[in-house]
Amino acid sequence: MNSRIALSVLITGMLFSFLGSISSCSKSSSCGKTNVSKDGGNESHNNGRNCMDCHHDGGGGYGCFNIAGSAFTAAGDGVSGGTVRLYSEPNGQGTLLATLSIDKLGNFYTTNAFSVGNGFYPMIENSIGHKVYMPSPATSGSCNSCHGVSTSRIQIQ
Ligand code: HEC
Ligand code: HEC
Repeated sequence: MNSRIALSVLITGMLFSFLGSISSCSKSSSCGKTNVSKDGGNESHNNGRNCMDCHHDGGGGYGCFNIAGSAFTAAGDGVSGGTVRLYSEPNGQGTLLATLSIDKLGNFYTTNAFSVGNGFYPMIENSIGHKVYMPSPATSGSCNSCHGVSTSRIQIQ
């Protein structure tokens, strides 16, 4: 290899590593954004889909969710308003670990830090005070990775 080729190989290599570092920057930066559901909010979308398919590092969604999911009425519409609470013990016992508002479209989500630990117990309450508890511990904050896939959608009426 003459020195000219060696130089161009070196420059090409530097260019690629430079481009690589740009794209990994833009990927991880989506995780620095705050995106938290609010009572009455209507900015969300994709009801029932696994939000974390896209809202993860490099997934393209706005913000990386630590907890997200969707709740439906018996008629299959998104539940409008209400609250999701995550506890350390079943049936609303133990420590309250997180509280999320359900938006107008039936979605709840947060980019706030949350540690799944050994699991946690979700409770969902609609706007007229009806409550439903998940009896077994959830081991992931991406509720719709199970609900609507391996088990029924989260439903409350
Ligand atoms: C197929 C990929 C994909 C899925 C699945 C997905 N999102 Fe998104 N989401 C995006 C992208 C891309 C954006 C940024 C562009 C936009 O606003 O549409 C976004 C933006 C958002 C925003 C910000 C909108 C704004 O302008 O403030 C919210 C809130 C949101 N998503 C919530 C959710 C929730 C909740 C779920 C699950 C029920 C979900 N997303 C599922 C791709 C997705
Ligand atoms: C690992 C899979 C999985 C994840 C993740 C998961 N769930 Fe569940 N959930 C289930 C299963 C399975 C049931 C059915 C009852 C049981 O076996 O505990 C259930 C039941 C429920 C129920 C009770 C439903 C009823 O009609 O009685 C609620 C409410 C619920 N889950 C909410 C949530 C919320 C909120 C999240 C996210 C924070 C979540 N779940 C995450 C698997 C999951």
